[in-house]
Amino acid sequence: MNNVDYNANILDHFKNPRNMGELKNADAEATVGNPSCGDVMKIMIKVSNNKIENIKFQTMGCAAAIATSSMATELAKRKTLDEAEKITNKDVSLALGKLPPIKEHCSNLAADALKKAIANYKKNYNESPKLPNKGDSLNMI
Ligand code: FES
Repeated sequence: MNNVDYNANILDHFKNPRNMGELKNADAEATVGNPSCGDVMKIMIKVSNNKIENIKFQTMGCAAAIATSSMATELAKRKTLDEAEKITNKDVSLALGKLPPIKEHCSNLAADALKKAIANYKKNYNESPKLPNKGDSLNMI
């Protein structure tokens, strides 16, 4: 692993990632990439009663990117949307027991993807104008 000094917690989340995979019937998702290294992370969320009922990730990236994805999903699970969107990259890093400085930027992917997925959910479900019911007539000019 290129002489990066990962602690046991990071290695555990890398080797045994939590919540990895595809979430069927997700309510929202977001994909973010790190242009400097090319790593990509996708987060999918299922929301019930304004809480993150289920969350999954798919990450193509370094050990830190996978460990931070795993930890970010663990931190967000069962939180309200408002609580989960406050999770920062620093929270993710600290929960893992602090990333090596050279890998701190990797935690940005997880926090950013989480925030974007929540923003997409809010955009889709809270702020969109009510669509007409099936059978309603549309007034088109
Ligand atoms: S090196 Fe790309 S996210 Fe870690």
